Amino acid sequence: MHLPRTPSLKLFAGTAHAELASAVADHLGIALGGLQITRFADGELYVKFEESVRGTDAFVLQPTCPPIDANLLELLVLVDALRRASADRITCVLPYYGYARQEKKAAPREPITAKLIANLIATAGASRIVAIDLHAEAIQGFFDIPVDHLTSIQIIGDSLVAKNLRDVVVVSPDEGRVKTVRKIAGRLNAPLAVGYKVHPDHGVSDITHLAGDVRGKTCIVYDDIISTGGSINEIIDALLENGARPEITVACTHPVLAGRAVERLSRPEIKELIVTDTIPLRRKAQRQNHRPFRRPPVRRGHPAHPRRRIRFFPISGVSRHSYPVETTRAESASGTLRRMSSIT
Ligand code: R5P
Repeated sequence: MHLPRTPSLKLFAGTAHAELASAVADHLGIALGGLQITRFADGELYVKFEESVRGTDAFVLQPTCPPIDANLLELLVLVDALRRASADRITCVLPYYGYARQEKKAAPREPITAKLIANLIATAGASRIVAIDLHAEAIQGFFDIPVDHLTSIQIIGDSLVAKNLRDVVVVSPDEGRVKTVRKIAGRLNAPLAVGYKVHPDHGVSDITHLAGDVRGKTCIVYDDIISTGGSINEIIDALLENGARPEITVACTHPVLAGRAVERLSRPEIKELIVTDTIPLRRKAQRQNHRPFRRPPVRRGHPAHPRRRIRFFPISGVSRHSYPVETTRAESASGTLRRMSSIT
């Protein structure tokens, strides 16, 4: 009898987040595939797979996080090499999809870069995409290949439920995040508040209105991405102006934390910042993780928080730091991973 041959699964790590790739490989009980990634003296990238990939079911894990263009090009080159080496199927695991926020023309003569990137990845030879919490769900449709869109909302929701906070309002910093935030609010059986955000200038956020009653409430703010921290700072100001308790939990899936974001978020009203490991924490944020946030001067009406930290929830289900809460979250986190691996 002739049995169809099942292609063997191989997982390769780009340089963007080797730690997450190792964690996924450990979880799957496989070794990462051999791969050489170097640069020539002039800066040109060179990659070479160091084992046969012919006929394999190849996965490349590479969030296109900062440095975005370098990580993106590396992904394209890796996919090209796999295709030319006759991999049977090439899945790009993109825990973070850079350029996702340029998914439409918001003004005349702008590009739609999120679509261009999708074209580039497919043209390079990808057969399938696995993504987590895409900035806009419509980005799935930018690809003419299958997209498995996973979410970290269960993991983040579990961690918030475990806190047993009282009088909670779950807050979306803008209209775009309402659908997701409603799911978290549902988990917590809590009401919703929504900021109305405008961008008066490039990369500048301004919250002009707040819908929902937050007076005297404990607020949880969720956003998909924290980049400069501007949106979070703005919504926190709006919540405080509207009488929210100055003990706010902030959660996000993708901690880009660009520029001075860590310093900007070092404010007394943020009790805790909860993030996942879809992208590596910048060194500055890691340092922050191991020591208290800068202790701010105690101001009237602002309680001092002697110790706050960035709490890290691994999407891979593998604990990176020794926070007890992570151990308890590992099961649900690996649920996400199982969904990831069940598509193989
Ligand atoms: C925008 O719509 C996103 O959901 C985030 O709110 C935004 O990208 C965060 O960027 P920043 O931290 O720079 O305000």
